[in-house]
Amino acid sequence: MSALMLEVKSVQAGYGPMTVLDGLSFQVARGERLAMIGRNGVGKTTALRAVMGVVPLRGGSILFAGEDVSRLSAHQRAERGLGLVPQTRDVFPSLTVEENLLAGLKRRPKAALSEAYDLFPRLAERRHNGGNQLSGGEQQMLSVARALLGQPRLLLMDEPLEGLAPLIRQELLAAFRHMGQQTGISVVIVEQQVDEALAYAGRAVILDHGAVVHEDDAAKLAKDTDTLERWVGMAVH
Ligand SMILES: Nc1ncnc2c1ncn2[C@@H]1O[C@H](COP(=O)(O)OP(=O)(O)O)[C@@H](O)[C@H]1O
Ligand SMILES: [Mg+2]
Repeated sequence: MSALMLEVKSVQAGYGPMTVLDGLSFQVARGERLAMIGRNGVGKTTALRAVMGVVPLRGGSILFAGEDVSRLSAHQRAERGLGLVPQTRDVFPSLTVEENLLAGLKRRPKAALSEAYDLFPRLAERRHNGGNQLSGGEQQMLSVARALLGQPRLLLMDEPLEGLAPLIRQELLAAFRHMGQQTGISVVIVEQQVDEALAYAGRAVILDHGAVVHEDDAAKLAKDTDTLERWVGMAVH
């Protein structure tokens, strides 16, 4: 058994004539939480989509739990245990919370459903409410809960805290921590909320122009304001 959950090796990917990922390499250990940060447009979303198989590789390879999944479809990768919470919350407004959770699932994973409700008690309270009646934070909980119903071993989350008030961000992060303790799941979290992402993660990579330009222990990087200012360019604290 590979000690690594994910190995991204020299990946190239893009859209039309544009190259976005240009020699992207990083690794995620089993049970590890990796933060991926960087300025807008550097390729973070594309990186997660390439790992999931939504964006095709033009070069390099992706190993998941030791298996080369580079040529597998997104569906096949989901079956292997990869899950993605996309940047846009894809909640169906006309379905209830519970219908949203069960949409697209072939069998009704009762145990997984009750685990998702344990993790997000707010969703349990609102299980019969419509998707259009949820707050931004609740929609984000629903997106994460839905990804968890696929029982992923590695969850890729694209800016899950975006647009949420500080208290709701803390509530979500507490649920993510709880999720890690319960399931031992590995996580890659892309975030603009750098302080919060680094407090949550164990290790961090910084992307620029579609490649990793810096890698460090998350707690160390949180204090390394020179590096953060150089590559992320936002006032931290
Ligand atoms: N579907 C797409 N078609 C064409 N270009 C895209 C598409 N998605 C993203 N891009 C471009 O790819 C680059 C990287 O985008 P993205 O991966 O979304 O970066 P980030 O998530 O770091 O902000 C940007 O220049 C963006 O405009
Ligand atoms: Mg993005």
